[in-house]
Amino acid sequence: MGTITRGTTNPNRLRRMDRWLVATQAWRWRSAQAPVVVDLGYGASPVTAVELRDRLRPTHPGLRVVGIEIDPERVAAAQPLAGDGLEFVRGGFEVPVPGGARPNVVRAFNVLRQYDEAGVEPAWARVRERLAPGGILIDGTCDELGRLATWIVVAEDGPVSLTLSWRLRGLGAPSEIAARLPKALIHHNVPGEAIHDLLGRLDDGWARALPGWGARQRFIATVESLVAAGWPVIGGRSRWRLGEVTIAWDAVAPR
Ligand SMILES: C[S@@+](CC[C@H](N)C(=O)[O-])C[C@H]1O[C@@H](n2cnc3c(N)ncnc32)[C@H](O)[C@@H]1O
Repeated sequence: MGTITRGTTNPNRLRRMDRWLVATQAWRWRSAQAPVVVDLGYGASPVTAVELRDRLRPTHPGLRVVGIEIDPERVAAAQPLAGDGLEFVRGGFEVPVPGGARPNVVRAFNVLRQYDEAGVEPAWARVRERLAPGGILIDGTCDELGRLATWIVVAEDGPVSLTLSWRLRGLGAPSEIAARLPKALIHHNVPGEAIHDLLGRLDDGWARALPGWGARQRFIATVESLVAAGWPVIGGRSRWRLGEVTIAWDAVAPR
């Protein structure tokens, strides 16, 4: 299920998400016998799937990464890199893992951004049906070089959180990330919607941080101002110092 779309990708483009996955989500597959992580829609080159395998393998020696692409030519082109915990198969949101295993994680980055907003919920529903117990779908978007990234975590019962991640060096304002919001939110960044409030609040906090502070201190102060204002921030300073913040989904969902 799905449509072939542009295959643009880049080495290291998804490093922010990979880093978050290893640091905050490995508990989901640590006790599984043979965990499966899917890179759904890996693109014209399988480089992000190779990186995912390399970064996740140290968390579990039996972990398999399965790259799934809807374009058969991209699947054929990836085959020389298969092996050592990495496979490539053709498919879509039905997530056809070889052997029928249920995936612990399905990472779909820069895939749904090329669909209409109306296609998002059915795609989420289709993937959710396939998840292992406790599994998640990560529906994300980033810029070409991975300096700005956003992703929604969708669990078996529905969406649970939104993560925003910036390269802080050279950042003008946090709302620069608006153009990289996932499809489920990008058209809702307008006055009266929660995501618009959130980005405005981040810009205010960033602008109010003391002149002369380093970008990291400035960002930590910005997130502290969010917490003080009652936003349900998940995780702590060890994530904020990387230029990353996670918010509970209910606080940002379209109204
Ligand atoms: C822009 S590329 C993204 C590549 C990579 N994930 C990244 O973020 O750099 C999107 C890819 O998703 C594939 N795609 C689109 N819909 C899909 C679906 N339903 N299932 C699997 N792949 C899909 C397209 O063929 C395309 O190669």
